[in-house]
Amino acid sequence: MSETKQWAVAGERPALIGVVGAGVMGAGIAQVAAQAGHAVLLLDLREGAAAAAIAQTAKALDALVAKGRMEAAERAAVLARIEPAQNLADLKDAALVIEVIVEKLEPKQALLRELDALLGEGAIIASNTSSISVTALANGMGNPSRLVGMHFFNPVPLMKLVEVVWGAETDAGVAAAIEALARRWGKTPVHAKSTPGFIVNRIARPFYAEALALLQEQAATPALIDRALRAAGFRMGPCELMDLIGHDTNFLVTQSVFEANFGDKRYMPSLVQKALVDGGRLGRKAGKGFYVGLPEAAGPVAPQQQDLVAIGVVGRGPLADALAACLELKGLAYTRGESADWNGLLVGDMHVHLSSGVTAAQLAAEWHHPQSAVMDWPLAPDRIDALALSFGPGVSAEGVAAVEDVWRALGWQPLHLRDVPGLAVARTVAMLVNEGADAVWQGVCDERSADLACKLGVNYPAGPFEWLQLVGAQAVVATLDGLFAAYRSERYRVSPLLQQRRWAEPGLKHA
Ligand SMILES: NC(=O)c1ccc[n+]([C@@H]2O[C@H](COP(=O)([O-])OP(=O)(O)OC[C@H]3O[C@@H](n4cnc5c(N)ncnc54)[C@H](O)[C@@H]3O)[C@@H](O)[C@H]2O)c1
Repeated sequence: MSETKQWAVAGERPALIGVVGAGVMGAGIAQVAAQAGHAVLLLDLREGAAAAAIAQTAKALDALVAKGRMEAAERAAVLARIEPAQNLADLKDAALVIEVIVEKLEPKQALLRELDALLGEGAIIASNTSSISVTALANGMGNPSRLVGMHFFNPVPLMKLVEVVWGAETDAGVAAAIEALARRWGKTPVHAKSTPGFIVNRIARPFYAEALALLQEQAATPALIDRALRAAGFRMGPCELMDLIGHDTNFLVTQSVFEANFGDKRYMPSLVQKALVDGGRLGRKAGKGFYVGLPEAAGPVAPQQQDLVAIGVVGRGPLADALAACLELKGLAYTRGESADWNGLLVGDMHVHLSSGVTAAQLAAEWHHPQSAVMDWPLAPDRIDALALSFGPGVSAEGVAAVEDVWRALGWQPLHLRDVPGLAVARTVAMLVNEGADAVWQGVCDERSADLACKLGVNYPAGPFEWLQLVGAQAVVATLDGLFAAYRSERYRVSPLLQQRRWAEPGLKHA
């Protein structure tokens, strides 16, 4: 079967759905299916678990009614559509059964084989696994082509993204039917080839990993890293986000992606996070992680009038243009010199290079200019209120003060980092772009899906290909090359897709 219409779930009327596993995710999936008009049978191994999940769903719907987002009659109708099942055989007439049990290969495989033997020919079987290979899950099924990953995000009723994950045997019609169903459920589906981490859990790894690397190098505090990333448009910084997710969970996902990639250093877990897990500092749920309690919110930064030395924007390319836009938005006078061989700001005699993965110390030596500093990427000129920078060893106190004055005049909190390559935003975004590029290069997903998945699955302000467009391939590749050279680590190897894009760009020499 490869025609979508041959699958019972593709019919006009909402078909019967089975959900096995009534935990956090199973309950959410049952709710979403019932809200879309499906009759749902909910099954769990634990006595009373399905009924308890339905009671939880009733409470969630009560809250919607109280907020005026759902009619009381609708609430009753939705709840009436979800019923606990007593055993697997009750699901035999379902058009789709979604497996949402514990994240372990053997129990999942056993259940999927039973379902395959039980269900009619026109039924689809889906798994909500977040990390296990769909190809491996299908192994042993009589008809592995009807298994597909249907990866929802937590909390299911709120999160729009669904990754439709193709195992090696998945039938194209099955994937198409699940895509259409997810749309009818109000979700945004994206297709992914079953590879470690699928799309979101793969591309998001550097968001955590680069912050953990900065912490390991004592380049900055968690609060400072979070401040820098928030100023670049992220809703939460990586450290506060890891605290929210739980370090045990986040560490397990990283470990699983690392192991599934045969120990590729790109995905190496961090000793900093392991120490948190070992010590029980699991994050918010434990009352302590990087932060004790909630991180303090940063107050608004008002631009301050300063007596500034002469400012110039040096160089060409999207980041130099963004820098000029920042100065213009705040009405600061500057000169523009496009011919120089570097990109950044002239502040009196200070050279403040836009980060390209090279330290201020190295730039000072290469340019024979002790008054050298590095600034992070100004990604969101209209809303940026803090930006990281680092100074070379020979910078005078007057040089530091002059640069800080410019930051304050721009309304930016100066975030002093140790002089490490790539600072905070540049290295994180360059690595997110690189990971997205490799995912596309390796056929895991297309560019649009990579962007959508990052925006809807982890709430990033942009997706990797949108950043690539914004910043340019030259800046991304230069930064990755800088990091690669500094750390001599394959972790920072550049995706072939980015290499191609770089050569396709007009002749810019630097970031
Ligand atoms: N929690 C998340 O944020 C999240 C997000 C996306 C995907 N997932 C995936 O969803 C699945 C479930 O996760 P969860 O967080 O809801 O877990 P959970 O522990 O809250 O729920 C799992 C439920 O499955 C039941 N169960 C276990 N074995 C069973 C079996 N053989 N038959 C019937 N019921 C069985 C358990 O009793 C439990 O109620 C996992 O594969 C997980 O990786 C979780």
